[in-house]
Parts: sequence; structure tokens; C-alpha cells
Amino acid sequence: MRNFAFTVFLSFSLVFCSHALYCYQCGDGRPNGPCQEDLDIMIKDHALHRDNGTNHTSSEYTYRKQCPESEDTCVIERVEINGVVVAYIRDCSDGINFSINASRFLNFPQDKNITTCSYVQGKFFTCLSMCNTDLCNGPQAAPNTSSSSKTVPFWTMVFLVAMSLYQ
Ligand SMILES: *[C@@H]1O[C@H](CO)[C@@H](O)[C@H](O)[C@H]1NC(C)=O
Ligand SMILES: *[C@@H]1O[C@H](CO)[C@@H](O)[C@H](O)[C@H]1NC(C)=O
Ligand SMILES: *[C@@H]1O[C@H](CO)[C@@H](O)[C@H](O)[C@H]1NC(C)=O
Ligand SMILES: *[C@@H]1O[C@H](CO)[C@@H](O)[C@H](O)[C@H]1NC(C)=O
Ligand SMILES: *[C@@H]1O[C@H](CO)[C@@H](O)[C@H](O)[C@H]1NC(C)=O
Ligand SMILES: *[C@@H]1O[C@H](CO)[C@@H](O)[C@H](O)[C@H]1NC(C)=O
Repeated sequence: MRNFAFTVFLSFSLVFCSHALYCYQCGDGRPNGPCQEDLDIMIKDHALHRDNGTNHTSSEYTYRKQCPESEDTCVIERVEINGVVVAYIRDCSDGINFSINASRFLNFPQDKNITTCSYVQGKFFTCLSMCNTDLCNGPQAAPNTSSSSKTVPFWTMVFLVAMSLYQ
């Protein structure tokens, strides 16, 4: 019986945890384009997504995209030729196919948000970073300060429990 209850609980948690990933989506074909520079607007998207959730109508977002089920990774791809940015892309990805492929990009961790670069076909200096949390492929809004009020009751609880054990 307890096992059954636990299974039900686990199923519910899974249902609530499995939601589509959201990534920033934009692309520049030149240096200093909006995908590289519009960081303030991305931060607004991030704050809206964090505070108002996936529920919110997507028309209020500028750069947020809901990824298809088959794509569970957010990427930033930057391509340079002779030191000049010719492509800068933020998007969802399956973590396998990129606009420029390099063997270095296979078997490369998708959750760590580290960047790796490769020189492809003697021409394209390509850097890739991958991560897999909502809107991780771009700037992050500063933590909501009001959320610190949530930690106060927690520590108050710990204190009360500790006191009750002490007595
Ligand atoms: C969340 O949505 C409400 C109502 O649309 C809006 O007033 C508020 O500014 C939103 N929160 C953020 C962080 O944008
Ligand atoms: C902090 O988050 C709450 C909801 O969690 C939201 O109502 C409030 O507007 C946020 N404050 C700021 C400064 O973003
Ligand atoms: C989510 O959507 C439902 C139905 O559209 C609405 O009633 C609810 O207020 C929304 N929640 C938030 C946090 O916006
Ligand atoms: C990139 O490499 C993967 C794996 O080798 C392959 O499936 C995919 O088709 C390649 N994509 C392009 C654009 O070459
Ligand atoms: C992505 O890569 C997979 C595995 O290599 C391949 O089966 C699939 O066709 C590729 N998709 C595209 C759109 O290139
Ligand atoms: C991931 O890396 C990118 C590029 O360095 C950065 O803009 C972004 O804020 C990072 N994401 C997180 C969640 O720290």
C-alpha cells in the first residue's frame, strides 16, 4: 500500500517536473547584432518567465521560444571568419545537430554551460555552449530579492524544531 502511494506520488512529481524547455531564440548574421547586444530585453524575458511562469502569454516575450519535445538543450553558436562574427545564434537544439558540425561538439556535456570552440574546414572558428535549464542560453535576471522572505520561515522552523528538541 505504501509502495502504491509512493508510486502515485512519484508519477505526480514526474508529471509536474516534465515540461517543455524554453530557450532564448535569435540570430545575427553580423557583428554587434541584437542577438549579441539586446541583453536588457533578454533579462526582462527571464524575469517574466521566472516570476510569471510558463503560463504567461508568449506575445509578451521578445526572445523566448518553447522548444519542441525533440529538443532538450539550449545552445549558443558563434561563428567567426578571420576574427569577425558572421553568425551568432541562440536556440533550442537536440544537442547533436548544429549549424556547423565539429567532432569536438559530439560527446560534449549538455548540462554544464561550458563553451568549446573548434576550427572547422580551415575557415570557420566556431564556438558552442550547451545547457539545459529554462533560458540558460543568455543573460540571467538578478535573483528576486523578495524571494529571500521565503527562507525566513524555513529558518524559523529549523529554530523552533531545534528548540523543541533541546527542551
Ligand atoms: C507578471 O504579470 C503581471 C500581469 O500581467 C504583470 O503586471 C507583472 O509585471 C509580471 N511580472 C513581471 C516580473 O514582469
Ligand atoms: C518577485 O517575485 C514575485 C512572485 O514570485 C513577483 O510578484 C514580484 O513582482 C517579483 N519582484 C521583482 C522585483 O521582480
Ligand atoms: C494560469 O492560467 C490560468 C488559466 O488560464 C489562470 O487562471 C491562472 O491565473 C494563471 N496563473 C498565473 C500564475 O498566471
Ligand atoms: C552533424 O553531425 C551529426 C552527427 O554526425 C549528423 O547527424 C548531422 O546530420 C550533422 N549535421 C550537419 C548540418 O552536417
Ligand atoms: C540530427 O541527428 C540525428 C542523429 O545523428 C539524425 O538522425 C537526425 O536526422 C538529425 N536531424 C537533422 C534535422 O539533421
Ligand atoms: C551560460 O553561458 C552563457 C554564455 O557564457 C551565459 O550568457 C549564460 O548566462 C549562462 N547561463 C547560466 C544559467 O548561467
